[in-house]
Amino acid sequence: MSILVTGGAGFIGSNFVLDWLAQGDEPVITLDKLTYAGNIANLASLQTHPGHIFVHGDIGDSALVASLLTRHQPRAILNFAAESHVDRSIYGPGAFIQTNIVGTFNLLEAVREYWNPQPEPARRHFRFLHVSTDEVYGSLDATAPAFTESSRYEPNSPYSASKAASDHLVRAYHHTYGLPVLTTNCSNNYGPYHFPEKLIPLVIHNALAGKPLPIYGDGQQIRDWLYVKDHCSAIRRVLADGKPGATYNVGGNSEKTNLDVVHALCELLDELRPRRDGQSYRTQISFVKDRPGHDRRYAIDASRLARELGWRPAETFETGLRKTVIWYLQNPAWVSNIVSGTYRDWVQTHYQV
Ligand code: NAD
Ligand code: TYD
Repeated sequence: MSILVTGGAGFIGSNFVLDWLAQGDEPVITLDKLTYAGNIANLASLQTHPGHIFVHGDIGDSALVASLLTRHQPRAILNFAAESHVDRSIYGPGAFIQTNIVGTFNLLEAVREYWNPQPEPARRHFRFLHVSTDEVYGSLDATAPAFTESSRYEPNSPYSASKAASDHLVRAYHHTYGLPVLTTNCSNNYGPYHFPEKLIPLVIHNALAGKPLPIYGDGQQIRDWLYVKDHCSAIRRVLADGKPGATYNVGGNSEKTNLDVVHALCELLDELRPRRDGQSYRTQISFVKDRPGHDRRYAIDASRLARELGWRPAETFETGLRKTVIWYLQNPAWVSNIVSGTYRDWVQTHYQV
């Protein structure tokens, strides 16, 4: 038995692979294209792990995926691979369409071909778990109830539209072909190995580097934050006991304005790594031009996951954010390798990929 994890060198995927192998001995095959967001150094601790195989490749490469499936015969595929940054999708949506829509389609086709002739009970027990986002539901007014699994899809950015399209394809493969799929729609994650282009790691990095902390617009946009390891535990629960064809919202019940998040980060840094001049990191906050089409509020109702599968997050926003800041303070080389670009050389020096 093994599982195939796509996008396992990215932020959430690498946390998932590391947690999976820390908790059990079922082998993992990681397939990752190593785009700018893929960092194989995230998986450095697994370099000699007998239960881990890393494959450099694209989910859209049907021949490669077919050969991996035939060779390793995984009992489940977990699809984390995606272009994931909203700002990049605004300035260059093409890659989002290619990976998130066409790539997911090619992956589904390869998986269907592999799964269809499987003997029972392997065919029945097989799972395709698609990792998606709350952003497919669009934006909420200040007082609207949180998104449930039956909220309408109203994606507003090229990123969320491409994820919505992939969710629809996954749903269709269940409805049409009977492929045993599961979809999770999760709110904003934060934690270790988060690429420093996203709000929380960017603010930590800029604060320590003495740079401005850019807040888009008025900073009153709301996101519902979840510590990444809680997202990983939710995915494990859904993989184990989720109902094929069902979708599960995942969230931390932790709505915060962006400004509140940045203030909380400044406070933690003031405590853990005070500035030499005694001033607060808050003085570095800088309001900048808003993101075009910026969604005002996301909020997730994760009660189905709690009720049906008994999942609850282990961290509050406060405990998770403290762990995150401490991780970044303890791993400055990880960030500086990204900022300098040397993380890309890691691939050549440490892996023959
Ligand atoms: P990320 O950008 O950090 O990582 C994506 C990974 O996918 C990278 O390692 C990249 O190299 C790889 N990849 C990209 N295109 C590929 C392709 N064509 N073939 C193979 N690999 C490819 O993203 P993340 O934040 O870890 O997000 C993982 C998944 O979770 C995404 O599907 C995203 O939509 C979803 N999600 C993210 C969040 C969040 O807050 N980050 C929240 C909810 C859902
Ligand atoms: P981000 O981390 O890019 O995630 P998403 O857009 O998927 O929610 O951004 C989180 C929020 O922070 C979002 O409302 C945009 C805002 N933001 C800033 O205000 N400044 C920044 O420099 C970044 C990257 C994001």
